[in-house]
Amino acid sequence: MIDRQTRTLKANELIFREGDVGDCAYLIERGSVLIFLNQDGVEYPLKVLGKGEVFGEMSLIDNSLRSASCRTQEKTQLIVVTREQLLERIQTADPVVRLLMRALLSRLRYQNESVRGKPLTPETVAHEEDKKAALSQIEQENRIANGLKQREFIPWYQPIYDLHTRRIIGCEALMRWVSSDGIIASPAAFIDIMENSALIIEAGHAMLDQCMNHLNQLAKIVPNDFYISINISGRQFAEPTFLQDLEELREHHKLPANQIKLEVTERVMMEGPQALSSLQNCRALGYKLAIDDFGTGFSSLQYLASMPLHDLKIDRAFISNMLEQEKSLSIVRSLIHMAQLLGMNIIAEGIETQEQWQSLRSLGVRMGQGYLFCKPIPFNEFYTLLTEAKLLKAS
Ligand code: C2E
Ligand code: CMP
Ligand code: CA
Ligand code: CA
Repeated sequence: MIDRQTRTLKANELIFREGDVGDCAYLIERGSVLIFLNQDGVEYPLKVLGKGEVFGEMSLIDNSLRSASCRTQEKTQLIVVTREQLLERIQTADPVVRLLMRALLSRLRYQNESVRGKPLTPETVAHEEDKKAALSQIEQENRIANGLKQREFIPWYQPIYDLHTRRIIGCEALMRWVSSDGIIASPAAFIDIMENSALIIEAGHAMLDQCMNHLNQLAKIVPNDFYISINISGRQFAEPTFLQDLEELREHHKLPANQIKLEVTERVMMEGPQALSSLQNCRALGYKLAIDDFGTGFSSLQYLASMPLHDLKIDRAFISNMLEQEKSLSIVRSLIHMAQLLGMNIIAEGIETQEQWQSLRSLGVRMGQGYLFCKPIPFNEFYTLLTEAKLLKAS
């Protein structure tokens, strides 16, 4: 456990002087401090800070000397915030937030200089990388928002097969960005930006709407247990109106819930305690639930046992290595065993070779998808594939 460092000071004690090297910042637990500047023996008070406020952070953030002096006004207790504690948070923050923070700091420094009557000089603490990253993020978000307005984000479909009969039993909807110039982008190019902003909510809703529309178009040619599996990001799932919006869309399209499968990752469980009850509500309403990417990220067996899931998808990372690496094969084996114990079905993802297909079959895996059978394809091609596959309506 980290030892919480505190400092107790009497009234009128100097904490640090302007121009000192900054080693840590402080949180005021009790008491108050005066921040001031000194010029030719004259003190210029800048601010009095009290309980709960932070100071001494500027020199750490922009790696320069203390911008002002500081002393206690009364008996004061401070909590030390180490350089590492502060910088670690800044480094993992959103680049736009970092840029805003730096802009505010630089304004504060200007302001302090002007208090002393010094001429203002152009900004010297340039953070080109932050600026570039922030600019690029905003640009990309704007391009995506524009693409969403133009309805350029559409689902492509990858069939999911019964590995024994090779019959198509459902499909996974995978988002593609088809821009006006005809370029087709995969999620690798945009999904992180969407998921780190509210854009994923709008994009996710548009996906659900289009998938339901397509499902209705397929009704004539598929059995009534055929399903579309739709990826739902943690943030989308955590929206308080997610379930209500989903139900409204489903009622609008007049579809049964059991033809819609929601693919979530364990991240949904990190969005708060409501996640579990939302999953239970989805299940109670008849939606199918699958856990995606299990074993690749924040996996926890405790979550797995508590989530009311129908399917567990084994990630491509394990399938592609299972015949070369004994460890991957062991993981696949234990995932299958665990799913059986928990009463869940297994879906293998990323099957690329006959050998993988055969081994999965012999391990008792019933369902799978992969380039060996079919890559994700646009809806019209998928429709044709289903027609040619001569799916029997009453299976
Ligand atoms: P995922 O949900 O794990 O989807 C499976 C990915 O594996 C897809 O990549 C699919 O095209 C690819 N794949 C399937 N079989 C094979 C194979 O045999 N070999 C290889 N090399 N790849 C295979 P894709 O379409 O690029 O999607 C990447 C990820 O983007 C998805 O991973 C999912 O996390 C996310 N994503 C896609 N569509 C959506 C969406 O509508 N909403 C959200 N929130 N995320 C989405
Ligand atoms: P730092 O530069 O590390 O050390 C002096 C601290 O005083 C600085 O961090 C800020 O926390 C604080 N500070 C500097 N200027 C001001 C100001 N104008 N108003 C309030 N606090 C300030
Ligand atoms: Ca998926
Ligand atoms: Ca996956």
